[in-house]
Amino acid sequence: MKQEPPPPVHHRKKMVAFPINKFTKSTAFFIILLSCYFLGYLSAPTNKLEQPISLNKQRVPQSILPAVTTAPAAAELDYNRFSTRCVNPVASEHVRQTILDRVFNGTSPWQNFPAAHVTPLLRPHRIKGWGSKGAVFENLIRKEKFKDMKMVNGDVLLMHQFMQNVVYVKATESIMFMPFSTSSSLEKLCEWGVFGELIEVDAGHDFHSAWSDINKAYKILRPGGVIFGHDYFTSADNKGVRRAVNLFARLNNLRVQLDGQHWVIHSPPA
Ligand SMILES: *[C@@H]1O[C@H](CO)[C@@H](O)[C@H](O)[C@H]1NC(C)=O
Repeated sequence: MKQEPPPPVHHRKKMVAFPINKFTKSTAFFIILLSCYFLGYLSAPTNKLEQPISLNKQRVPQSILPAVTTAPAAAELDYNRFSTRCVNPVASEHVRQTILDRVFNGTSPWQNFPAAHVTPLLRPHRIKGWGSKGAVFENLIRKEKFKDMKMVNGDVLLMHQFMQNVVYVKATESIMFMPFSTSSSLEKLCEWGVFGELIEVDAGHDFHSAWSDINKAYKILRPGGVIFGHDYFTSADNKGVRRAVNLFARLNNLRVQLDGQHWVIHSPPA
């Protein structure tokens, strides 16, 4: 198949992060990055995932097999309707404060970070992500990837370490985050009128997650903006991200452009 080499090391966060770049004095471009923990091994080209599941037909009673029906046209189905109405966009320069108010009760999470009880548990910086191979949690957490990170009640403090990394690269004024799932965050941003000019979707890579995230993210994309995401080519082939991206583009008459492992979709200008 059209398989590219597996993506290199991933650095994923179970949160939504917002770099707010000031390209000009008057315009604050608002960039939304949606990412989450993703078991990197799903990205690795492994034949296991591509093996078809074979049923022993003789043992499966015909009565429990689904009847063959003609699939309705995609447009008739309602799982492609994401009906939450987004409120009018807040101005770019108010985006940060809107999130601070809504999520953090008006106080920057970077203020007095890290808390005293967390400070000794963090590394000054740890920017590295993880790759795609090997026995999963045991290796990731205990042996390989997080062996240098402290665990508290089963939590390897990834959010705190992410925050610490942002502090380390001196980006606290331009990056804000929401410590919620991608789906919940997108729903809320839509309700709050927080729109983006550039939105990256790099969260769940199964079809249903990607489908939902892309649709919800597109609703908060400003006209003329760009939505893009990683892992268009994975071992899930056309069953995961790629299927969701292609279906979305087809139903919305949009064109998918490729850039390495990334898919890119431009929204039409207003
Ligand atoms: C949120 O902020 C208000 C006003 O600063 C304060 O009175 C209130 O106690 C805060 N709530 C929480 C849960 O910290």
